[in-house]
Amino acid sequence: MNEDNISFCNLHTIKSLLNKDDIIIITDENIVKFYPDFFSDIIEKCIIISDKSFESFQKTITELVKRQAYKNTILYGIGGGEVTDFTGFIASIYMRGIQFNFVPTTLLAMVDAAIGGKNAINFAGIKNILGLINDAKNIYISTSFLDTLPQKEMKNGFVEIIKIALLKDKKLLLKTFEYIKSNLNNKELLKEIIRDSISLKMQIVNEDKFDKGKRNILNFGHTIGHALETTYNITHGEAVLCGMYYESKIAEKIGLIDNRTFGEIDYYLRVFSEDFEKYEIKNCIEKIYFDKKNISGFINFPYVNSVGLGDLQKIDTVKFIDAISDII
Ligand SMILES: NC(=O)c1ccc[n+]([C@@H]2O[C@H](COP(=O)([O-])OP(=O)(O)OC[C@H]3O[C@@H](n4cnc5c(N)ncnc54)[C@H](O)[C@@H]3O)[C@@H](O)[C@H]2O)c1
Repeated sequence: MNEDNISFCNLHTIKSLLNKDDIIIITDENIVKFYPDFFSDIIEKCIIISDKSFESFQKTITELVKRQAYKNTILYGIGGGEVTDFTGFIASIYMRGIQFNFVPTTLLAMVDAAIGGKNAINFAGIKNILGLINDAKNIYISTSFLDTLPQKEMKNGFVEIIKIALLKDKKLLLKTFEYIKSNLNNKELLKEIIRDSISLKMQIVNEDKFDKGKRNILNFGHTIGHALETTYNITHGEAVLCGMYYESKIAEKIGLIDNRTFGEIDYYLRVFSEDFEKYEIKNCIEKIYFDKKNISGFINFPYVNSVGLGDLQKIDTVKFIDAISDII
């Protein structure tokens, strides 16, 4: 995929694309509820799912067969990351692969989930255990969808933006803070932030599409973040924010960055949250140890070398756990 396949458009333009023949839409109940006019005359084209579970997978495949979806059918995933991940997975295996397009409706899906070709469903209680890498042909983004998105979902998206900015572009970090200072009112600036984030993620993905090495950098904050998310049942955004804080502290502890750099990262992260220490990572050590990113005793550890410049360092899991024990 390249950036030419990603268009910013209004709801009217998107609607006109959906009014064609041979289109089936996968979406969720909330989107249909929030956008009744948008869906009023295309609702019969929709398959409505509640999650990206195996049950939803069975239901959707059954429905595609019943509706005689064929090789020329185009699937549209209209929704957050749950819907886009699910749609990409279904379309990639149905009849050995049919075309699919995304209309991401959450900030996180716009800047992250819809970008980079990772598609997956959950199975046997394990998130994203069945998946593949295949790009949507086209992605249509309308920031109007964000008008109805709850604050906590906006924050989940902003945390991924902050992550990519810390890793790749200090200017994006500053733009994001300017947007927050504008009381989240400057729509043009938000569009620019989304565009920049997509472009930075695509640079990383294009260097390592199949996730063999460099793409690991996007896991910054996620090793500790995932462990915190399941231990404390907090939002993904809050957990990853806290994960970025603790992973940077570990980077300092093992000598990858100095105290000044840690201080700068800490300063930027605290624009979003004040209270990282309320989640104790000592309660998560076991989960961190058994994380799927921990391969054969090593973690390909992403960290921020200086603000706007991320790097990866292979470190022994035991050394990683020791560093955690040192800071708790
Ligand atoms: N493929 C990837 O590279 C990648 C990256 C990050 C996350 N993900 C996946 O993305 C998923 C999380 O995505 P998400 O954060 O978008 O959450 P989500 O898809 O669960 O959406 C969050 C909530 O917002 C609602 N919603 C969506 N759009 C709305 C709108 N415009 N107005 C009001 N409500 C709306 C949804 O119905 C849902 O209740 C997870 O399954 C995760 O594994 C994938």
